[in-house]
Amino acid sequence: MKLAVLAEGASGETRVAAVPDSVKALVKKGLDVVIVTGAGAGSFFSDAAYEAAGARIAGSNAEAVQDADIVLAVRRPPPDLVPSLKSGAVVVGQLDPYGAREELDALARQNTIAFAMELMPRITRAQSMDVLSSQANLAGYKAVVDAAAAFGRALPMMMTAAGTVPAARAFIMGAGVAGLQAIATARRLGAVVTATDVRRAAAEQVQSLGAKFVMVEADGEDLETKGGYAKEMSEDYKRRQEALVAEHVKTQDIVITTALIPGRPAPRLITAAMVESMKPGSIIVDLAAERGGNVELAKPGEVVNHNGVTIMGHLNLAGRIAGNASPLYAKNLLNFLDVIVKDGVLAIDWNDDIIKGTALTRDGQLVHPALLS
Ligand code: NAI
Repeated sequence: MKLAVLAEGASGETRVAAVPDSVKALVKKGLDVVIVTGAGAGSFFSDAAYEAAGARIAGSNAEAVQDADIVLAVRRPPPDLVPSLKSGAVVVGQLDPYGAREELDALARQNTIAFAMELMPRITRAQSMDVLSSQANLAGYKAVVDAAAAFGRALPMMMTAAGTVPAARAFIMGAGVAGLQAIATARRLGAVVTATDVRRAAAEQVQSLGAKFVMVEADGEDLETKGGYAKEMSEDYKRRQEALVAEHVKTQDIVITTALIPGRPAPRLITAAMVESMKPGSIIVDLAAERGGNVELAKPGEVVNHNGVTIMGHLNLAGRIAGNASPLYAKNLLNFLDVIVKDGVLAIDWNDDIIKGTALTRDGQLVHPALLS
């Protein structure tokens, strides 16, 4: 079976869906691996390294996908590539299932079997395939490092003969995978860290990392879904959270926002007035910029300065640390391929929760329940 690895360049994506180590494992599984020239460059892997691992090099995406039974990508393949995909080809990547109905329809019409890795169920067996976790962890780290680099003050307290440098105060909003790594990183750099989340279960994790948990009580209702994600809040909860955050943010030097609700726009947590209440020199990093943003003044893909407060809206923070993000993503995909390829041929068990959770298209149609309702 032929497996093609795409070059993502067109979308400004630095990551790649296979690295030399994962190629070695794919070849060992009996697959004929083809990767597009330069696909690994943004993650510091050369064509020669892929060749040494057993891959063939193709001149373009269109050439690579010709007759390919499996196509690995980081993002949804570009629309002009879809007509070149073989009927029946399996496409695996972060396909942005909620964001692009027409493009998913096109994948269905082409009779592909498309798997959206973002929809991986959060069950123990699927942890090693969980791309949201592997990438969010690195994004949380990078957000703090970006903030520290832009901050014109120090993070740790320092007692010197010339006086004491106070520790910076960092506030992490959303204590999921990215938020917890942001807390750990800010603590390691010496900041005094507080964090918040709508899920009660997050309190213990935050405290175990040495940060203080700040939270609005939700009148008995738990804002956590069975899958471990956040639910959308009531209007009353939003008002109370806003009042609490407004008071807290005034005293903070660095704010990192990571709050997401699957399938919904990111909740708005920091208003323009809150930004204006912060000291000049403060830094805000909005990790949700790609999903609509947690911060009112954040501009997707830009770094803006408002009254002396820097607001970073970088898209794709994991892509800013591609040298680690790509190997972890590639390993997630390799583990997923173990589920769908047996003895070198496709063997998809349509009753498997991992397959049911991630399959978007099959037999010319959209099949995922989230897309049918
Ligand atoms: P996410 O990326 O969907 O959201 C980030 C965080 O923002 C979440 O903790 C969420 O509760 C929080 N949030 C949402 N709305 C908010 C608001 N208005 N104010 C403050 N915070 C808000 O979440 P992520 O990182 O994917 O993690 C969600 C849960 O899944 C966590 O409990 C995590 O530990 C769990 N998890 C379980 C895995 C497994 O069992 N295989 C793997 C990875 C994560």
